[in-house]
Amino acid sequence: MRQAGRYLPEYRELRAKAGGFLDLCYAPEMATEVTLQPIRRFDLDAAILFSDILVVPHALGQEVRFVEGEGPRLDPVTGLAEFGRLKDAIDLDMLAPVYETVSRVRKELSREKALIGFCGAPYTVATYMVGGRGGEEQAPARLLAYREPDVFAELIERLVTASAAHLVAQLKAGADAVQIFDSWAGDLPPGEFARWSTRPIAELCERVRAEVPGAKIIAFARGAGAKLADFAGVVPADGFGVATSEDLRVARSAVYASRALQGAVDPIALVAGGAALDRAVDDALAALGGHPMILNLGHGVRQETPPEHVAQLVKRARGKG
Ligand code: CP3
Repeated sequence: MRQAGRYLPEYRELRAKAGGFLDLCYAPEMATEVTLQPIRRFDLDAAILFSDILVVPHALGQEVRFVEGEGPRLDPVTGLAEFGRLKDAIDLDMLAPVYETVSRVRKELSREKALIGFCGAPYTVATYMVGGRGGEEQAPARLLAYREPDVFAELIERLVTASAAHLVAQLKAGADAVQIFDSWAGDLPPGEFARWSTRPIAELCERVRAEVPGAKIIAFARGAGAKLADFAGVVPADGFGVATSEDLRVARSAVYASRALQGAVDPIALVAGGAALDRAVDDALAALGGHPMILNLGHGVRQETPPEHVAQLVKRARGKG
């Protein structure tokens, strides 16, 4: 995640030309280029589509802006009145440029490299829709879930349907796998986690596979911690993301041997580079020796990351540095 982005000078250059961040997401030629930039530089095994999880609320009719230096801002959905103004179904025509980007990238990428599409999990997307922004433990959405569980359940249900359509369209356009990001799920207590993260993600996987049998899916409930075993027991994904603060050895004992684990190098070790980064890579590889794994960060690449540290990580992981 955040494989492309502001730590790369070639990204900053294109971003300046595109105008807004969403304009870049909806410009297939430029979005293709941005998706491929990290692959050209670092020879990674997989590219992740350049887009954002917030294109789904955008295509449901919600106002979405990205404010420079502050992150996303949405007109909050705080109750039935605003909810009623959203579209019943996702406007896939609005997202046609995203699917065109997927097919362009797949054409340009060599066959042995995978292209990963993605969406936000219903819960995480709902937290932005309700709170209007990222914030401490996404309290506004949790409050709505406690106070008006029926309204929140309806919002989650709409997002399951919309996200399934969005993932199916990416798979049909050529994505080799899709990842579901539940960035805020870890903050939830177990009962709420099961209700708003685990079950909707399981449902989403099933709906995607009903249309694309055998679709490869990675589910990332960031910070699931001790809840991972229950999550992985219910969610029929092929792989599970693990966050920086979590123990890959514990995660390994929580999932079936056939399910891959993805993670969990500290993005700040990537900023540091040197011996600390080598140790972080070695630890992740040692923790998952013999288990199917996708070596990755526990969260996105930070803006202040020197690009040569990403090259160092790749070299170390391949046993060449
Ligand atoms: O890695 C990639 O190149 C893939 C594209 C990708 C982006 N966002 C591009 C992006 C992916 C997979 C995401 C996922 C995403 N977006 C998540 C889930 C993963 C996570 O990080 O927890 C979330 C919660 C979002 C919502 C979002 N988008 C936020 C909170 C922000 C602001 C953060 C910031 O650093 O400013 C974004 C903006 C964003 N999405 C950027 C990029 C490259 C930075 C935009 C810029 O150029 O200014």
